Amino acid sequence: MPLLDTKGIRLFIKRDDEIHPKIAGNKWRKLKYNLAEAKARKLSTLVTFGGAFSNHIAATAAAGKAFGFQTIGIIRGEAVLPLNPTLQLAHDYGMQFHFVDRATYRTPDRLALAQSLYPQPFYFIPEGGTNHLAIKGCMEIVKETQHQLEEQPDYYALACGTGGTIAGVIEGLQGKAQVLGFSALKGDFLKAEVRTLLSQTYTNWTINTDYHFGGYAKFKPALIDFINDFKQTQGIPLEPIYTGKMLYGILDLVQHDYFPKGSRILAIHTGGLQGIRGFNQRFGDILI
Ligand SMILES: Cc1ncc(COP(=O)(O)O)c(C=O)c1O
Repeated sequence: MPLLDTKGIRLFIKRDDEIHPKIAGNKWRKLKYNLAEAKARKLSTLVTFGGAFSNHIAATAAAGKAFGFQTIGIIRGEAVLPLNPTLQLAHDYGMQFHFVDRATYRTPDRLALAQSLYPQPFYFIPEGGTNHLAIKGCMEIVKETQHQLEEQPDYYALACGTGGTIAGVIEGLQGKAQVLGFSALKGDFLKAEVRTLLSQTYTNWTINTDYHFGGYAKFKPALIDFINDFKQTQGIPLEPIYTGKMLYGILDLVQHDYFPKGSRILAIHTGGLQGIRGFNQRFGDILI
């Protein structure tokens, strides 16, 4: 890209979106050790939480189908029929749904809510898939990158929602390189959240909150134009909730000389492309 050439920056994109057609990106990283744990504990049902367009819900349903688990999704909000493409996909993979109103969904004791809705043995996976086994899986992004690249990145960049993926990357790096998270949500709470997920204090990371475009799942025409243009010129699909905002942010920061000349940046494509169908259905085919 001319901007990167002009500024002397090298940008690599780690295509975790291509790990698996249905369990893509950070979802596979997060589920991998959880599925192994559920098997080890001889639990054949996975219960998890998510919004109606959740990548995590779609991936958990796909993983259940692929690895022989029954899956139960506790979904925020009322059921809307016909199901949106994300829930239809999850349903096609055999996931059963419990729709709960937003106040109930906000309970601090999700496990108790799950037990009341599904009073049989199950393996519990939190919303977004984030727990210590998910972090263990996300640490492998670093190990893999270190093998894949001859020259190591100065920066690891990625989109953040619950903070589990960035926590894994920070743990994996053990203080090496800088980690730059881009919050998909409005507000400054994510840093504190990530700190609670880390096993020790690291100082080589930060979370940028300037590119949420109004908040979670909010967008502006500039973001849509950017994503469409990126796909056409670079051949890499992005989605508007996480990866599009991250890459927009990276390139804007390059433009504003945030990164020293000569920096190597690794952007992690965390997937989420299943969401494009539902997004286009809601907003009128604005993403190509
Ligand atoms: C595509 C995609 N990228 C990034 C994230 C953020 O990951 P985390 O919740 O671990 O911060 C998510 C959702 O959780 C996601 O679906």
